[in-house]
Amino acid sequence: MMDDWDKAGKIAGDALLVGKKLIKPGARFIEVTEAIENKINELGGKVGFPIQISVNNIAAHYTCIYEDKSVFNEEDIVKLDMGASCEGAVGDTAVTVDLSGKNKDLCKASYSALLEAIKMAKPGVPVCSIGEAVGETIASFGFKPITNLSGHGLNRWIVHDKPTIPNYNNGDKTKLKEGQIIAIEPFATDGCGLVAEGVRSFNYKLVKVKPVRNSYARDLMKYISDNFRTLPFSQRWLYTRFNKLEVNVGMNALLREGVIQNYAVLPEKNKGMVSQFEHTIRVGDKVLTRVEGSH
Ligand code: CO
Repeated sequence: MMDDWDKAGKIAGDALLVGKKLIKPGARFIEVTEAIENKINELGGKVGFPIQISVNNIAAHYTCIYEDKSVFNEEDIVKLDMGASCEGAVGDTAVTVDLSGKNKDLCKASYSALLEAIKMAKPGVPVCSIGEAVGETIASFGFKPITNLSGHGLNRWIVHDKPTIPNYNNGDKTKLKEGQIIAIEPFATDGCGLVAEGVRSFNYKLVKVKPVRNSYARDLMKYISDNFRTLPFSQRWLYTRFNKLEVNVGMNALLREGVIQNYAVLPEKNKGMVSQFEHTIRVGDKVLTRVEGSH
């Protein structure tokens, strides 16, 4: 029998393939984003968190706003990171598309690291050993792992939970447990191996529901809590219900009150190029987001 985690993983894997095929020079980010969202819904899931499309030296956390004009360029190295949810159980997966073909080794580094880590991720294995394998595999290709980005545990309605799955040997002896759901996501770079906090993105998450005075903020808070609970959400999704003024005023008030938090875009500190691959696995069982034709 397939449980929600199996279903969410399969939907995420299938939807990622749809998006990956659309990433071509001249295509718009928003087309890829909407095609993935539609596929997830068509397959009976919900979007688990905003579709992330991060290019070149941006490692993570770029998501489209609704009037987004961004298009892919011939030289781009594109990280597509997305999640599908079934009742809060999220399958989290990512792939890198190298449009110029000049970054093959960089892609191979993070992909090989992911395969090594998956092989090792058995019950009783300390997370630092997985990190060590990831870091050494990436180094063997002449690149650096991004050490301040990491994989993570997943629990219902919580995408980033304990344990942290590091991309280097951080000395953390926490052991993996049978049946635990974790996402492994090695990032490789020709930069210094760290990301910085960049500009504000359109990714948000509800932190706590509390009384707020502003009526736009109050309505938005209820909508967010009813529809996304504690999963990350895109500002773009709010425009199906609210107008621009309501969103701008309401979101700023919610940020000020600490009701929601924003995620910053994460560029590599030395403007290095970045590749990433990710799968969600059930420890001691299988890769949940791997489907026919996927990485
Ligand atoms: Co992840």
